[in-house]
Amino acid sequence: MTHTHQRPVAYRLPAKPDVPAGARARLEADFERFRAALPADVAADVREKHRVDLTGEYAGRRIRLPFGKASGQLSMSADAVEADVAAGLGFVVLKTVIGEDAAGARTMEPWAVRASAMKVEPIVSASGRKGWTVTWKGRGWDRSFDAYLALYRAALAIGGAAGVPVAASVKCHLPPAGEAFHEAEYAHTVAKLAAVGGEGAILEKDFSPTLAGDARAGSLEAVERWIAEVPRLIKRQAPLTLGLKLMNALQGDGLQVEMVRAAAASAADFLVLFNRLFDPGRGVAYGGWDLSDRNLRVLDVCRGLSHPPEFSATGNICSGRVMAEYALRGATSGQLHTFFQLPLSAYPATAGSRSARALHALLFHPEEGLIAWMLSLGEAGIVEPRDGLLHFLDIAHGAARHAD
Ligand SMILES: Cc1cc2nc3c(=O)[nH]c(=O)nc-3n(C[C@H](O)[C@H](O)[C@H](O)COP(=O)(O)O)c2cc1C
Repeated sequence: MTHTHQRPVAYRLPAKPDVPAGARARLEADFERFRAALPADVAADVREKHRVDLTGEYAGRRIRLPFGKASGQLSMSADAVEADVAAGLGFVVLKTVIGEDAAGARTMEPWAVRASAMKVEPIVSASGRKGWTVTWKGRGWDRSFDAYLALYRAALAIGGAAGVPVAASVKCHLPPAGEAFHEAEYAHTVAKLAAVGGEGAILEKDFSPTLAGDARAGSLEAVERWIAEVPRLIKRQAPLTLGLKLMNALQGDGLQVEMVRAAAASAADFLVLFNRLFDPGRGVAYGGWDLSDRNLRVLDVCRGLSHPPEFSATGNICSGRVMAEYALRGATSGQLHTFFQLPLSAYPATAGSRSARALHALLFHPEEGLIAWMLSLGEAGIVEPRDGLLHFLDIAHGAARHAD
């Protein structure tokens, strides 16, 4: 028996942000000024000039900005983490490592394949909108577990020095219905990660899109069992902060909502919603507007759950506007991959790392950026100022209130 009922989102964003002329002029000036470089402390600058507090939340931690690096090919080296922290990102999730037992055996070995080249390409959604997707046949971390632990150690030191949370990501044994979990794999992998991460360790458990096309995910029972059991298995090893990153199921919106309901009732501390879509015909995962359209549609229904989950959004966050859409459905942060990977000509910024250029557009674009949409939500009365500031987190915290 499920306790869902459909509640429409009370507030739909207008076509363009409604921003008073003076505030818009200040925003346009910053958009131009910061094309070459962002200020050293973006959040402080935005607070002072635009009266917007960008503080977000990830894994229960306050973060300086709601935008973070999602797990994947762009978080596989200490240099990448260093550049993200320097650019001002709010948090970083490392590439997913495939778990192993003490003897080095990996039940999810097929997910540790070496990658073919990635291709960043335009994709047109069913609704006719042009976006971007990354086509790639690889899966998890393909070097040794020790090399991953070394990356995690280095990344934590870089993040820790700047107050930026860094999460590890893992995929361990997921048995088909009726088969037992290979617990030794969880025990070994989680203990090693927790030893590096210490008391504040954050771990995401990745249910990746390729799983959606795998026979073992064929039944709702099998998937619900994973969602219920995996957090228990992991938490038995170490008291870390655990996030479940849910895949987009092939079977439709109903099953997707059931997965969220099961995850919200599990021992996980937060969720990441939702990983990319899977095209069984081509055997590849994809994103673009189909991904955010589906995610937002499912999240609309999830707001009717009796215990809506705390979550970090993922999926086609290519503008502050899309971030605001997720926040209106309860997201306290967003994690991006594709938008950090575009051709340089796609960013309005003229210098800096891709993360810095992306952040410039995500925050300051006068029509698509998060500051413009925060100001617009303020004008509409969806977010009310506190201490003279409009707070990003009030969008998510108000989400429940505005649904009534
Ligand atoms: C090339 C590529 C590799 C990825 N690898 C992982 C991974 O190892 N673990 C994971 O949890 N998500 C992985 N993802 C998913 C991203 O973290 C992200 O959730 C997803 O792409 C949706 O965000 P986007 O639309 O901004 O790309 C990968 C995505 C891409 C494009």
